[in-house]
Parts: sequence; structure tokens; C-alpha cells
Amino acid sequence: MSQKLTICIAGESGRMGQELVALIEQEKALAKTKPFDRKKKALPACDVVIDFSLPEGLSSLLEACIKNKTPLVTGVTGLTESQKKQLQKAAKQIPVLWSSNMSMGIATLKKMLHGLKPLSDCDFQIEETHHIRKKDLPSGTALTLQESLQKAVGKKLPDPVSIRGGGVFGIHTIHVMGEEETLTLTHSALNRTVFARGALAAARWLAKRKHGFYSLEDIL
Ligand SMILES: NC(=O)c1ccc[n+]([C@@H]2O[C@H](COP(=O)([O-])OP(=O)(O)OC[C@H]3O[C@@H](n4cnc5c(N)ncnc54)[C@H](OP(=O)(O)O)[C@@H]3O)[C@@H](O)[C@H]2O)c1
Repeated sequence: MSQKLTICIAGESGRMGQELVALIEQEKALAKTKPFDRKKKALPACDVVIDFSLPEGLSSLLEACIKNKTPLVTGVTGLTESQKKQLQKAAKQIPVLWSSNMSMGIATLKKMLHGLKPLSDCDFQIEETHHIRKKDLPSGTALTLQESLQKAVGKKLPDPVSIRGGGVFGIHTIHVMGEEETLTLTHSALNRTVFARGALAAARWLAKRKHGFYSLEDIL
């Protein structure tokens, strides 16, 4: 590894890609290479790739990462089951960290969910709100929270409720509703930078790992 951690971004031109560019410029220990060129399938030499592109590009990016033996942090959401399996398969050869939400707050919330077990007789509903341009619905975060919550309370829960509007970066609420009390857990992303910062923390951590499949909770 060179003195600076060199990062190649897939999806550099996008909203999240540009957040990463701005953060990397501010950090002396980090350097950016040329972005991943999905048309030429060209991955420059780098210590780690951070992917905030779209699911359509996943196969060719994975192919390039495996070929170059480069660790991959990906925050892409809206992956199909088969694409998730592709990530798991790649993780047998390279380190892969996938998280549908790169904020430390959501990673911590996911870990907290097993604490809801004593309330498993209650009704539960996950609600998510995002900006109008978000393509996937429900959000990847709502789906992973749902999966963890179902495991914690040992029953199938109603599908998440989705709201789309304005410029909201991302609000996730878990409603716990009993006959005599309610509990509400809400995480709000106040900007997009929070996800880029989390992805950079993940990249620093993953660059030192052996092959395997990881999520942001692993770095807490
Ligand atoms: N995990 C998290 O915390 C988190 C947070 C925010 C967003 N996200 C996810 O990150 C992804 C990017 O979000 P964004 O808001 O930055 O989106 P965006 O602004 O629409 O940017 C999308 C990027 O993907 C590229 N792209 C377009 N078509 C593609 C294709 N067929 N294959 C591969 N790449 C393609 C675009 O490049 P061109 O300029 O060439 O079109 C652009 O660089 C989404 O999946 C989003 O849900 C995750």
C-alpha cells in the first residue's frame, strides 16, 4: 500500500461520488485515482474502490476488482437477490463491504434492534422518507432494518411505508405500538456527507482486511 490510501470511485459524477471527491480533497492521508470507467471496464491501480454508481454496473465492477485483487466498498442500493449473491461470491476472493446505509447512526440502530425483543407482542411499522429523485422504493436501509427487526422480534412484519418528496436526505423511523405505550426510533441524515464519511471510514478499514463479506456494523 502506498503512503496515502488511494481510492478509485465508481459513480464519481453522481451526487454521492461528488461528496466523496470533496472529502478526499480535504484529507492529506487520502488520494483519488481516475474514476472507474464502466464503458472500458478500466480500473486504475488503487488500494480500494468505493462504489456509489448504479446496480446495472455491478457485474463489470466486480469483475475488474477481482481481476486487480482490489477491495470494494459499495453503497449501491436496489440490488437484486442475484446481485447480492454476486457480492457474496466475489467476497470469497476479495474483501467486500456492502451497506445500504453508510451512516454510523443507522449501523448503531441496526445493532440496537435486538433490544426490542421484550416488546415482540407489539405492532411494528418501518417508515422511510427520501428525496423525490431516489430510484429504489422502499429504501435499501428500510429493507435491511426490516430484516434485522424481524429477526429480533421473531415474526413477519408489514412492508415498510415509503414517502418520496423534496430534498429529504433520508429519514427512517421504527414505530413500536402497544395497547398502552408506543416507542419511536428515528434516524435522520442531515446531509449527504454523512454517507460519504462512513464510506471513507469503511474504505480505510477494508483496505487492511482479508477477503470476506462485511457490513458497516463490522467496523463499529
Ligand atoms: N449506502 C448509502 O449510504 C447510500 C447513500 C446515498 C445513496 N446511495 C446509493 O448510491 C447510488 C448512487 O446514488 P447517487 O444519489 O449518487 O446517484 P446519482 O447522482 O444518480 O449518480 C449515479 C452514478 O451512477 C452512474 N451510472 C449511470 N448509469 C450507470 C450504469 N448503467 N452503471 C453504473 N453506473 C451508472 C452515473 O454516471 P453518469 O454520470 O455516467 O450517468 C453516476 O456517476 C444509488 O444506488 C443510491 O441509492 C447509497
